[in-house]
Amino acid sequence: MKLKTKISLLSAAVALCCGSVGAQTGAAGEVAAPAATPWMNAQLGAEERARLAVAAMTMDEKLKLVYGYLGSDMESKKTTRPAPSHKQSAGFIYGVPRLGIPNLWETDAGVGVASQAGPDARPGTALPSGLNTAATWDLNTAYAGGAMIGAEARAYGFNVLLAGGVNLMREPRNGRNFEYAGEDPLLAGKIVGAQIKGIQSNRIVSTLKHYALNDQETNRTSLNVKIDDRSARMSDLLALQIANVEGNPGAVMCSYNRVNGVYACENSYLLNEVLKKDWGFKGWVMSDWGAVHSTVPAANAGLDQQSGMPFDLADYFGPPLKEAVLNGWVPQSRLDDMVRRILHAMFAHGVVDHPVAPAPQSIDFGAHAAVSRKDAQEGMVLLKNSAGALPLSRSAKKIAVIGGYADRGVLAGGGSSLVYPAGGNAAPELTPKTWPGPVMVYPSSPLKAIQARLPSATVAYADGSDRAAAAKLARESDVVLVFATQWTGEGFDMPNLSLPDKQDELISTVAEANANTVVVLETGGPVTMPWLPKVSAVLEAWYPGTSGGEAIAGVLLGEVNPSGRLPATFPASESQLPRPALDGFPEVADRRFDVNYSEGAAVGYKWFDLKGLTPLFPFGHGLSYTEFAFSDLAASVKGGVVRASFTVKNTGKVAGKQVAQLYVSPLTARWEAPKRLAGFQKVEVQPGAGVQASVTVDPRLLAVFDSASKTWKVAKGDYKLTLAASAADSKAVSTVVHLDAAVYDVNGKPSR
Ligand code: BGC
Repeated sequence: MKLKTKISLLSAAVALCCGSVGAQTGAAGEVAAPAATPWMNAQLGAEERARLAVAAMTMDEKLKLVYGYLGSDMESKKTTRPAPSHKQSAGFIYGVPRLGIPNLWETDAGVGVASQAGPDARPGTALPSGLNTAATWDLNTAYAGGAMIGAEARAYGFNVLLAGGVNLMREPRNGRNFEYAGEDPLLAGKIVGAQIKGIQSNRIVSTLKHYALNDQETNRTSLNVKIDDRSARMSDLLALQIANVEGNPGAVMCSYNRVNGVYACENSYLLNEVLKKDWGFKGWVMSDWGAVHSTVPAANAGLDQQSGMPFDLADYFGPPLKEAVLNGWVPQSRLDDMVRRILHAMFAHGVVDHPVAPAPQSIDFGAHAAVSRKDAQEGMVLLKNSAGALPLSRSAKKIAVIGGYADRGVLAGGGSSLVYPAGGNAAPELTPKTWPGPVMVYPSSPLKAIQARLPSATVAYADGSDRAAAAKLARESDVVLVFATQWTGEGFDMPNLSLPDKQDELISTVAEANANTVVVLETGGPVTMPWLPKVSAVLEAWYPGTSGGEAIAGVLLGEVNPSGRLPATFPASESQLPRPALDGFPEVADRRFDVNYSEGAAVGYKWFDLKGLTPLFPFGHGLSYTEFAFSDLAASVKGGVVRASFTVKNTGKVAGKQVAQLYVSPLTARWEAPKRLAGFQKVEVQPGAGVQASVTVDPRLLAVFDSASKTWKVAKGDYKLTLAASAADSKAVSTVVHLDAAVYDVNGKPSR
């Protein structure tokens, strides 16, 4: 069904943005520049345009651009949003109408156009969680999702989407893992980069966040991460570095936490040195909401814009910044640089030349739901499937569906990224109803989607609150589908990796009543599964987004062959983690403590390999309704560049997609862990056919970062390349290449 919000298009955008001497927009939308406003000349490069505009600005105009407001009323602080901001939005910055510089309208976040809490939430299309998109291992899907949510952002009049979360999963109990892209820097960086590119294809800016090392929510605003430069550059920073190159985001959001003693938003090492100098980032650094602690240190350390006031304790980048500049504590050139960076991104990404309309535009929610559904179906991971339990037989007469609000919809993650669905919350009674809630269930019912596909079967539902009743229903059924949920969200972490609310007991009871039990998980990240041996199949559906019920039903019934692969290790227990107890948990407000990343760059599967641990499910794991085999692995080394080619054969009976994962292990050199993911390629293969594919290895993944020289150094020696279907694939094939010593610059380019 096509659900369209039709709202008239007002063409007052330019008048609104450009004021009296502003540019004129022609019929085709291109902007001609009067001589008085040379920065409006779209023929000039963004750098030159930003330079010209800064030169024309007064001090007060510059100061306006570096100071951001919350786009919502804040009752606790008795503040109201700026009049031109969009209701219940994340952020707003006044532009400079006199010069044709539009306002910045900011919205969260990575899975769609979110709303702050209140009565006027705007309906949006929710993608599945970021982990799901990472689990697709498919850059086209990530790009398409980004393009879709970026289009909705633009249609709602936003020109900055606060997306691009790529914090590595060091902590599987982190409440925000669902917003991110897993534990591997290559996969996470590529996926999030593709999403950013998609978002910005709408001529709006996307952020990349949260910079950096904000990997747990417990005491996120006060904790201090301790990590050495080399380990950081080879893990969390590498993910950000890759996403920055792939996505070219206009803005980077610095995070709440401290890193080696200094708050991220006043951390010169992170902002000035790594991001701006080493990586050559030309856009602007905005703070997270409430992450600024100073004026002079923050401005001089590289923060370009304070966000979300009144979130911070003081208006550091308001009058105090003016005073600091007038006194020379913050050089005038630094203020100019802040503004130039903001303008550079606005010019480079089309925000000035293609202003957003002041009133919402029509959105084709039907088409957008299809994009979300495709993402969900590409990213669901079939973890276990014994005796062909899935796909469900169409001849099953009696099907039991139990738990997880499956009669009503699918779960979403909580916090600032929450997208409100057009149909309203399908389970409004759930708590918490306020921050970081509401607990949201999207009205896309798996039960109804299954019933619609099996009109002649009896598909009965029990909510699982009465275990005996659930067991009775299970016993009387041919097959049982148990839906288990784990609500996670911003601002809090999970106490452990167990499913909450006694759902482990429910699953065990049901599986004991009927061995043909399939578990569908809607979780924020990895969970433990004490009942695993008792059930016949497990499908990890993450938070599957707007079309989740349809997406799940399609996979369960075999309309879609599952092709998601885990973007993170599922541990067998918390004791396997580098920090078996989560630091600071349970949270005591404002507690200051260190989180020592003593595992260094050995994150996720690298840690498991290093310690010889066997996880519940390894990184990269995921089953299909068909079987695949790898062959013909051949590797070449030309000018130090490693390229591996291979064939993926579908040895089963139905078409499917396999993710070929290339891991590399040094045979002589020493790394942080025995192997790294060095490349991947998702391929679709028809039954009986073979598809040839190849991957080229980023030299940084063959090297160790040398902090003293700021170079990536490849050690001379032999390296094993393994083509595998997971980080622990017993059927993997491998070959060995010899590499000469080589040196690459800080960005992985050949050193001259
Ligand atoms: C979150 C950011 C978000 C911002 C604005 C913060 O609490 O950490 O990810 O973009 O709020 O809502």
